Amino acid sequence: MNITFLGHASLSIEIDSYTILVDPFISENPKASHIDINTIKADYILVTHAHFDHIADVEAIAKRTNAIIVSNYEIVTHYQKLGYKGHPMNHGGNWKFDFGNVKYVNAIHTSSFPDGSYGGNPGGFVISGKSKTIYIAGDTALTYDMKLIPLQHKLDLAILPIGDNFTMGIEDAILASDFVECNTVLGYHFDTFGYIEIDHKEAVNVFKTKGKTLKLLDIGESISV
Ligand code: NI
Ligand code: MN
Repeated sequence: MNITFLGHASLSIEIDSYTILVDPFISENPKASHIDINTIKADYILVTHAHFDHIADVEAIAKRTNAIIVSNYEIVTHYQKLGYKGHPMNHGGNWKFDFGNVKYVNAIHTSSFPDGSYGGNPGGFVISGKSKTIYIAGDTALTYDMKLIPLQHKLDLAILPIGDNFTMGIEDAILASDFVECNTVLGYHFDTFGYIEIDHKEAVNVFKTKGKTLKLLDIGESISV
């Protein structure tokens, strides 16, 4: 599995020959202006919730790539009405896609579209490829529901929001890492707006003092799991 950070909460995940794009918010993110959405590949677009900073480029990329949009029922129905392909899920549900298994799990947050219309309940994804499993928390508070994940999945990487204010901050992300039983964390949802700026060095150090690894990628940088 190869994971590229595209800024904010946007990720591109390569599993075998498939590209799974998550929460594309690139063209409206000034920090990601060096990324051209016309070059982004996508077989699937996973959407955690309907907030603008997670869906801004869904339509443009789905139109060009013909990607299948995977999200909660309300978000997928919204895009299907506009003519896009989608696969609706809801909390607790699994589906075996051609790249692997996806489980849509709980997140504590909100989920309205930019015009205020209902975007269902927000979620996160547990994605299992042939040999590796990752958890993408989406925008969420720390929640006890995270403890359910390691009962069924041995995670190789937890992708957690760390920017605080709208989601968990560093301290809660460390507890989340305990809850999901994964000491390797990729941080996201930080620095994009004034409300969520973090001190990178301090964040990495706080994780280190707890015996954990916090990875922070530059926009466009990749890691393999
Ligand atoms: Ni949000
Ligand atoms: Mn957000």
